[in-house]
Amino acid sequence: MRGEFSGYHSEWNLGSPGGWDYQRMAQEIGRYSWQILKDKADINIELDFEHPILNPVPAFANLLIEAHRSNFGREKPSIALVAEQETLDKVGENIHFVQYLNSLPDISAYLISPDKLELRNDQIFADNNKITLLFLDFNNNVIVRLKKRYNLKPLIKAIKMGMVINPRGMEPIGAKGVFEAITSEYKNIVNETTLRRTPWTRQFFHRSTLGPDGESIPDLIQWARDNWENIILKPVHGYSGKGIIIGHKESNRDKCIQDALNSGNYIIQRLIPLTLWSEEFPYIDKKDKSLFLKSWQTDFRCFITNKGLIGFVTRFGGIPTNVGSGGGVQSTAILRSNITAKEAIKRINEAIMSLGFDFIAQLQEQIDKKSTKMGNVYLLGPIMSTLRPRIITPGHVLSLQAYAKNLWDDALKLESLWREGKLTQYVCISKEEEEIARLNPWNGQAALIASDGLFNFVDDYD
Ligand SMILES: Nc1ncnc2c1ncn2[C@@H]1O[C@H](COP(=O)(O)OP(=O)(O)OP(=O)(O)O)[C@@H](O)[C@H]1O
Ligand SMILES: [Mg+2]
Repeated sequence: MRGEFSGYHSEWNLGSPGGWDYQRMAQEIGRYSWQILKDKADINIELDFEHPILNPVPAFANLLIEAHRSNFGREKPSIALVAEQETLDKVGENIHFVQYLNSLPDISAYLISPDKLELRNDQIFADNNKITLLFLDFNNNVIVRLKKRYNLKPLIKAIKMGMVINPRGMEPIGAKGVFEAITSEYKNIVNETTLRRTPWTRQFFHRSTLGPDGESIPDLIQWARDNWENIILKPVHGYSGKGIIIGHKESNRDKCIQDALNSGNYIIQRLIPLTLWSEEFPYIDKKDKSLFLKSWQTDFRCFITNKGLIGFVTRFGGIPTNVGSGGGVQSTAILRSNITAKEAIKRINEAIMSLGFDFIAQLQEQIDKKSTKMGNVYLLGPIMSTLRPRIITPGHVLSLQAYAKNLWDDALKLESLWREGKLTQYVCISKEEEEIARLNPWNGQAALIASDGLFNFVDDYD
């Protein structure tokens, strides 16, 4: 099919996926620089930055509003974004999103820490305002930790009443060990698009198992040693690229393997060939006063809801490609001219390069200023962007939509298996976390899933 693309997802996040507002800002910055570059270099290519699928914020807000309606009908939505106390004045994404919700007609929104919620006559209150829906910006392990210090009865009640998005019962399916279930025991229950895009994954301990090509592996640890250049080790419940061990970057394999075994709860995954998900972008080095094409790794987070695909977060950087590990967020545009993505990228890269260092350095300065003014900053400082967007075609959008729908269906099947106790060995969570998850099973209710794609939209795929 035209518009098919190659690549794999590196993980799924079903607990509390973020990044929607960083993408909104990246789109604004991307649109701004594209207009300047297009005019200056006279680039005869049409790019679309406006398609609703390129800005996940309104669709995410709709998801919350509709979830509210299914509980409270026509009552006015009153939404609490619940985040840990110490993040309330720091995480721009949450602050902006609450501002956005408040800018919509007939909606109130509050940013609040979980210990400040109140319970009166079986209703939830935040600062004396009745709440009808809560979005949690943390995972179940944080609830377990905070429960030891604070009265979280109101939050627990809200979870039980089905007022919390995402339903807490979804999170176990985001454990990275679940990819082992998909690439072994349960490969026959998932859709072809899910199976094809799930990299071979195994929980990492001394064991025999089947390898990526179905070959028999007598001892997985020895196999990891022998295949060190082509594997990656990741904590089952990792985030922000933390604790990831990339075989070919580490010379002391025995120490790395021992570290992973000691900390327990690691998976081994096939390394997705780096050239597959890297792309060249014009880049300036201010110190050297040079403008050149730089190859970045990319990470294409797809946001998926009960309505299907609602947007992306498109990241770039090294490996791991997380903003928390020094990466950036770039804009994405849909190619409207009748040429291939490869051709468009080549021509746009060349056009930007032809403008020379001085012009681009000036533009970069404007972009950085705009970025800081918008609050496009993370814990490490201003978030990097690229001079041109990631480019996908209308055909890619169709393929991504089909992929997303299948993924939602498959996650749902997996959740039902988990509830039946059939995925316990792949999920590995504490008793307390399991209790939280079982308070509110998912069952396909409104929710936001993120699937992080290491995808290639440049080369034609047959
Ligand atoms: N199988 C793989 N092959 C190659 N690189 C990988 C693979 N898995 C992960 N990576 C690299 O590590 C990064 C983070 O991986 P992943 O999304 O699995 O972990 P995470 O720490 O949970 O991240 P997040 O912050 O997105 O939750 C990816 O963006 C990619 O750069
Ligand atoms: Mg990720």
